[in-house]
Amino acid sequence: MSDPSELPRLLVQHAEACPFDPPEELARLRAERPVAPMTYPDGHEGWLVTEHALVREVLADPRFSHRAELVHFPLPGASLDAEPQPAPPGAFTAMDPPEHTRYRRLLTGQFTIRRMRRWTTRIEEIAAELLTAMERHGPPADLVETFSGPLPGLVICELLGVPAGDQDEFVRAMSVLGRLDVPAGEKAAAFGRMQALMLDLIRAKRERPTDDLLGGLVSGGDLTDDELAVIGGVLTGAGFDTTANMIATGVFALLSHPGQLAALRSDPALAGNAVEELLRYLSIIPATVRAALEDVELGGTLIKAGQSVTVSVPAANRDPKHFPDPGTLDLHRPTSAHVAFGHGIHQCLGQQLARVEMQVAIPALLDRFPSLRLAVPPEEIPMREDMLIYGVHRLPVTWDVPAHK
Ligand code: HEM
Repeated sequence: MSDPSELPRLLVQHAEACPFDPPEELARLRAERPVAPMTYPDGHEGWLVTEHALVREVLADPRFSHRAELVHFPLPGASLDAEPQPAPPGAFTAMDPPEHTRYRRLLTGQFTIRRMRRWTTRIEEIAAELLTAMERHGPPADLVETFSGPLPGLVICELLGVPAGDQDEFVRAMSVLGRLDVPAGEKAAAFGRMQALMLDLIRAKRERPTDDLLGGLVSGGDLTDDELAVIGGVLTGAGFDTTANMIATGVFALLSHPGQLAALRSDPALAGNAVEELLRYLSIIPATVRAALEDVELGGTLIKAGQSVTVSVPAANRDPKHFPDPGTLDLHRPTSAHVAFGHGIHQCLGQQLARVEMQVAIPALLDRFPSLRLAVPPEEIPMREDMLIYGVHRLPVTWDVPAHK
C-alpha cells in the first residue's frame, strides 16, 4: 500500500518511460484502493480518488464543495495561498451554488457551441497567419513559441477584448501563475499585476463600450469593476495555458504515433474524435479537489465532513474499466465520458472554444507542413514536470522545404 504522504507526488505528471503516461503507481492504486488516504502537502489528512466512476461521482455530488476556503491544495510545491482563503467576488470557479450558478449563468451564453463555431473563421485566420510566419522563418522552429502558445493567447485576448498592445503583459503574468516552483509571494504579485491590468481594461470599457465578451458584461450586467476584473483573470488563466499545452503536446503525441498521424492526415473528418482522444490520453490537468460538506460514503469508504477529496484526471481517463486498453492512443475509439474537461457543475466553461481551437490548429499545422517531424530525439523534449498544467516547455520541429521555395 502506498504511503499517504507520497501520494501528492503522483499527481505531478512526470515523464517516466513514456512522456505521455501518468505515473505507474496511479494504476496500481486505482486497482487496489480507488479511494486512498492522502496526506496533503500542508499536512491535511484527506483522500485521493482514481477510479473513473468514482471520480465522476465526486464531481457530480453537491455534498462535495469547491469553495476555496474549504479545499486543501493537493499538489506539491507552492500554492497561491498558504492557508485556504475564501474566493474574492467573481472567482466563481471556487464557489458553490447559488453564487456559482449566478456567475456561471451570466457566462454560459457566451460560450455555447453555436457562438464558438462562429469563431472558427477567425481562429482559422489566426492559425494561418502564425503558420505563414513559421514557414517564412524556416525550419527548425519551436512549436510552443511560434504556434501553440500564441494561438490560444491571441484568441482569448480577442474574445475578451484585450487590446493587442497589452497581450504580452497578460501572457507574462499568466506564465508565472502556472508554475509550481514559484514562491507564493511572487505568484501573488503576478496575480495582482494581472488584476490591475484587467481593472484598467474594464474602466476603459465603461467609458467607451465595446462589443466583445468583457464589454458585454460591463454594459449588460450589474457586476462591479472588481468582480469583472476577477472574471476576466479567471477566463484568461483558464483558457490560455490549457489549450496551448493540448495543441503542443497533442502534436508531440501524434508525431510519436506515425500510424495515428497517418490516419488523421488521410481523414480530416477524424479531427473531432482525434481531439477527444488526445484530451483523454494526455489528461494535462493533473487533478481537481473538493471538500466534503458532510460525512459521505464513497465507494465503501467514509469521507468525513471537512476532508478534502482530490480526483486524479489522468487516472480516471486511463481506467481500463471504462476505456479498454487505455494506454493506447487510438483516434477512432469511443471517448465518451472522458473527464479531461471535468464533470458536473464546474465542467469546463470553455470546452467548446478549446475544441474549436484544437480542431482548427492541429489539422492546419499538418496541412501546412506535410513532412513535419520532431527536430530532436523525443527524450530531449522538456516536459512540464514543474507546472500546474502538464505538457511540453518546448517542441522543436522541422520540415522539408520544397526546392522551388
Ligand atoms: C474548468 C480543463 C480550456 C475556462 C475546467 C475544468 C477542467 C478544465 C478539468 C474543471 C475543473 C474543476 O472541476 O475543478 C480544460 C482543458 C482545456 C480548457 C483541458 C483545454 C484543452 C478552457 C478554455 C476556457 C476555460 C479555453 C475559457 C476561456 C474554464 C473555466 C472553468 C474551467 C471558467 C471553471 C468552470 C466552473 O467552475 O464553473 N477546465 N479547460 N477552459 N475551464 Fe477549462
